[in-house]
Amino acid sequence: MPFETLPLHPSLACEVRGLALWEALEPETIAGLRELWSTWGVLVFRRQALNERELAAFCALFGPLERTVRTDWASPSVPEIGIISNLKDGQGRPIGGLGDGEIEWHSDQSYMMHPATGAALYAVELPPEGGTTSWVDLRAAFSGLSEELRRRVEGRRAVFSYVKRLAGYQGKDRVISAEAQEKTPPVVHTLTHAHPVTGAEALYLDWTTTTGIAGMAEEAGTALLDEVYRAATRPQYVYTHHWQAGDLVLWDNGFTMHRREPFDPAARRLMKRTTMILDPARHIVPEGALAE
Ligand code: OGA
Ligand code: MN
Repeated sequence: MPFETLPLHPSLACEVRGLALWEALEPETIAGLRELWSTWGVLVFRRQALNERELAAFCALFGPLERTVRTDWASPSVPEIGIISNLKDGQGRPIGGLGDGEIEWHSDQSYMMHPATGAALYAVELPPEGGTTSWVDLRAAFSGLSEELRRRVEGRRAVFSYVKRLAGYQGKDRVISAEAQEKTPPVVHTLTHAHPVTGAEALYLDWTTTTGIAGMAEEAGTALLDEVYRAATRPQYVYTHHWQAGDLVLWDNGFTMHRREPFDPAARRLMKRTTMILDPARHIVPEGALAE
């Protein structure tokens, strides 16, 4: 392979070195990267210089790009790219989403019945401190559950609500169009899935979005979820990324959650984002249903 790999965490994250992602990659390189991403939850590429077209083209090697319901965060030039930033335009309007605040443990698009699970974040401008992003390995977390807790979650379905997710956002991010509301009714997803390549069982969770467990009384459901979240987010399952400009990070939302530290609102942070529909033969892709 014309690239080297350097683990950044025992099971979760791996750096890929030696590639210039703005160049056309050889078919073997692409195949090698696809294989690598089916076992690592997080891939890190440093010192990349990508325009939006090049970023979108590289990401599309892993699956069709999805335009999420947050069309208000879409780049004006390449609509498959989302802008994640606290910056504002000349009229004081946010140029993208997610501002400067803390973002708690979540899995992107978990509120969708068919979540697109591939994500990429490319760092253009960064605050001098804060704004780090952490991921947690929910395969390792599942293996680490007690037998008893494992039995209580296996096969259970949780309710995922975008209304709950929105309530945790700042400012304009809380407001979505009527069309976006129609596309995001509450859904249920199974809390555990087997990885199609390795067979490893993993949890599927989103602390910002789950409201309870299907078929359980509200209090018992949230108590069970709280217990699972506590057990699943132990530091040994977590990789924290300290961003440098030019970093591109890919992650698999099928068996990870991520969170972000807040940063100084007066500092500038500009990230570019894509969402990919990953291949269910290589990745855990939750199959949800409408909540009752
Ligand atoms: C995201 C996200 C975190 C960050 O883009 O889905 O959670 O560090 N971003 O900006
Ligand atoms: Mn996210």
